[in-house]
Amino acid sequence: THVVTEACINCKYTDCVDVCPVDAFREGKNMLVIDPDECIDCAVCIPECPVAAIFPEEDVPKDQRKYIPINADLARKWPVIARTHAALPDADDWAKVEEKAQLLDE
Ligand code: F3S
Repeated sequence: THVVTEACINCKYTDCVDVCPVDAFREGKNMLVIDPDECIDCAVCIPECPVAAIFPEEDVPKDQRKYIPINADLARKWPVIARTHAALPDADDWAKVEEKAQLLDE
């Protein structure tokens, strides 16, 4: 599967969504996750993300590995997002912030 990591928090650009052939993205208030039961590992979403938040599971950086179970857990709870929409209002500012983990709105 592929995994959405911390960089997505408070940005939620959603460019990743339109390219997903299986509608694997799930939408929370300030982040998306990928449903590991739907993702087919096509990887087309990776270059679409302006903040490089998406990794193949095996390549998730060490400090981001907690997002592997977070994606799996929240994918069960959050609704499908099938269309790209506007990013969050201050996305470009949040894109420069590195420590956002505590801001995740589950
Ligand atoms: Fe998040 Fe990047 Fe998609 S910021 S919503 S993973 S394009």
